[in-house]
Amino acid sequence: MANKISSRLPKDFLWGFATASFQIEGSTQVDGRGKSIWDDFSKKPGKTLDGRDGDVATDSYRLWKDDLDLLVSYGVKSYRFSIAWSRIIPLGGRNDPVNEAGIRFYSNLIDNLLARGIIPFVTLYHWDLPQGLEDRYGGWLNKEEIVKDYVNYAKICFERFGNRVKNWLTFNEPWCISVHGYGHGVFAPGRSSDRTRCPEGDTSTEPWLVGHNVILAHAYASKLYREEFKQAQGGQIGITLNGDWALPYDDSPESASRGSDADLLTFADPIYLGHYPEYLKEMLGSRLPTFTAEELHVVKGSSEFYGMNTYTTNLCMAGGDNEFQGKVKYTFTRPDGTQLGTQAHCAWLQDYAPGFRQLLNYLYKRYRKPIYVTENGFAVKDENNKPVEEALSDYDRVHYFQGTTSSLLSAVVEDGVDIRGYFAWSLMDNFEWADGYVTRFGVTYVDYETQKRYPKDSARFVCQWFKENIEKD
Ligand code: NOJ
Repeated sequence: MANKISSRLPKDFLWGFATASFQIEGSTQVDGRGKSIWDDFSKKPGKTLDGRDGDVATDSYRLWKDDLDLLVSYGVKSYRFSIAWSRIIPLGGRNDPVNEAGIRFYSNLIDNLLARGIIPFVTLYHWDLPQGLEDRYGGWLNKEEIVKDYVNYAKICFERFGNRVKNWLTFNEPWCISVHGYGHGVFAPGRSSDRTRCPEGDTSTEPWLVGHNVILAHAYASKLYREEFKQAQGGQIGITLNGDWALPYDDSPESASRGSDADLLTFADPIYLGHYPEYLKEMLGSRLPTFTAEELHVVKGSSEFYGMNTYTTNLCMAGGDNEFQGKVKYTFTRPDGTQLGTQAHCAWLQDYAPGFRQLLNYLYKRYRKPIYVTENGFAVKDENNKPVEEALSDYDRVHYFQGTTSSLLSAVVEDGVDIRGYFAWSLMDNFEWADGYVTRFGVTYVDYETQKRYPKDSARFVCQWFKENIEKD
């Protein structure tokens, strides 16, 4: 039997909620902000489910103090948010002017978080590339330019905020940036070889080129931080990758040969182990870019921890023909017709907590890095169609968090996985990218007419759980 102390999370465990700039800020034309690639993309017909864009979102650029009050009322230890590059450098480039009003906004936010005892956990890039860079040279497709411009942007953030920010994430989910932005074309900038979606893209090479350039941008920014800022500022820097656990669909040798979800290795293997995974090399052949020896030296070991975004578990069987994930098929339906878990509003998500614990174990064993769960959450089916009072009783989300928090605790206290933090997605309902506002992930309900925030039952559950399950002084 575990004793009383070891049955809890360590005292300095960070927990809280996560958001991202474009999903919450709104005020897209205020205080000198430049456009991001999501501004126009979200306005194009058919790009979001409800035809709505990010111009207002949860209005958090104006209501940031209310959001801070919310965080205080939840008693969080930390808040994960992202900085909008185009507020800091409106046109994005290394020779473009810096916007002091943008710096001031985040500086105030950081000061006010710290004054309330909340530790900022900051993402530098959560998908909102300055449109200026897309227009000037094709954004992430242009290695020579984008790596330098990203490193310059990161440097400004380290210089201006690094005396107060001690936890940096270079990127959020490079796989989504690459595959959704340049393969499926459902995320900005919406490039895809599917001509019905986007006329000019080339899905066969672009996602991998973009992924490669993102890895390099991450690696060089991380190098800069570690060489020039880390010692004086005393912080840490890493990357956040998305990945879900996968179980074999059945006990056939074909299914059994597929274990964890291949997506998560695409970026993790180069960053932590120094090479692309075998499956990707086989799948892409000469379409997979290669690192020079010098680049590889910078890439390998460039993340001081593993930032993990995870939502679900898939059943995986061989025999599919998925251009981005290899010859596999994913499903939630077991061979006997039953479902793995409760279905969320979005098709790709079901509630299955044991997979969460297995994934934590797998990643820790494979990469041996401390883990921060930087996102984890659930979108209740049809929540958007319910009256507020009903939506607040979000039992399916509570159930989801009951499962994942208990898996988290088991992974730490029983399995010995070194997990340092957990952020639920999301602090509040917000702009869910291609889903617009119809899919709600918040533990706080947002009435988009009034911008009033209402805590859901899940907010109470998560806050109470962490209060009870972290060691006291
Ligand atoms: C991952 C992304 O980082 C976040 O922006 C998104 O809203 C959630 N997943 C839910 O889809």
